[in-house]
Amino acid sequence: MSFRPAGFRPAVVRYAVVLVFALSSTAIFAQETKNPAPAATAAQPAAAAAAPAEQAAKPAEATAAVKPGDATAGQGKAAACGACHGMDGNSTDPQYPKLAGQSEAYIVHQLNNFKSGKRQNPVMLGMATPLSEQDMHDIGAYFASKSSLPGVADQALVERGEQLYRQGDTSKGVPACMACHSIDGRGNPGAMYPQLTSQHAQYIEATLKSWHDGTVWGEEAHAQIMPGIAKKLDEKDIAAVASYVEGLHAAEGAGASAAK
Ligand code: HEC
Ligand code: HEC
Repeated sequence: MSFRPAGFRPAVVRYAVVLVFALSSTAIFAQETKNPAPAATAAQPAAAAAAPAEQAAKPAEATAAVKPGDATAGQGKAAACGACHGMDGNSTDPQYPKLAGQSEAYIVHQLNNFKSGKRQNPVMLGMATPLSEQDMHDIGAYFASKSSLPGVADQALVERGEQLYRQGDTSKGVPACMACHSIDGRGNPGAMYPQLTSQHAQYIEATLKSWHDGTVWGEEAHAQIMPGIAKKLDEKDIAAVASYVEGLHAAEGAGASAAK
């Protein structure tokens, strides 16, 4: 009779270890596939699948202070945001950016930008100031779990908008937007390149114009990228690419062929 517990326990332990590993790697894998990096969109599923094993150790050490966002906790904390951004992150008033489907990392980054005054907006300063780092992650996780509702592009502007988005304009030194924001506009959360797909053209236009006119969101190299690009775009370019972006629909899981 005594052989039973002895044989039983290691089996249970091994099962638990396998289970924990499986859960953590599926979570990471789900993120990887939901937001493929630009270079990895279609051709390299093998590379994406190999990455989780390598990264499996990372969350544990990186989250000593702040836990990864909890979307359920975030839903309650996001109640105050709904008035402008929509309860599910799909704002109806186009001056307020949609947050649905935006990455947790980017939402946290921008909330910190508002809180520190690097990104100046009186309303968002007031909204971000009371939030702790953990609140920001939870709210970010909540909005990231929602899907952005598709918008519509202006047919008259699509051609120029698509050209800028997909090829850039070498004569003006403008890089293709999709190099960083991905072909379907989902962005790249790891590099903190935001999702643009379905965003209100009015918000995109206002943001590009303010960068064009000299606004910056801080001193870091990361914050210099968009002002540098926006300075090379004229008013017509900005209107065209903003409209194109609003009409980009990210097809669920379909990657490369989503843009029309
Ligand atoms: C009274 C309206 C209002 C409320 C309420 C509000 N926001 Fe905002 N939010 C704005 C405006 C306006 C902007 C655009 C600011 C700009 O142009 O820089 C913005 C921008 C943002 C951005 C940047 C999005 C991007 O794509 O760069 C984030 C993130 C954000 N808000 C999160 C929140 C959160 C989280 C809450 C609730 C705690 C909240 N907001 C509540 C008006 C509001
Ligand atoms: C080299 C990479 C890169 C390229 C190319 C690029 N972007 Fe960006 N984009 C960024 C980064 C980084 C941010 C975030 C800026 C920050 O956090 O300060 C950003 C943010 C934005 C935002 C703000 C979105 C929001 O919700 O706040 C818009 C709009 C945008 N980019 C449009 C464009 C357009 C249009 C093009 C092409 C003409 C373009 N980008 C090309 C890296 C890039």
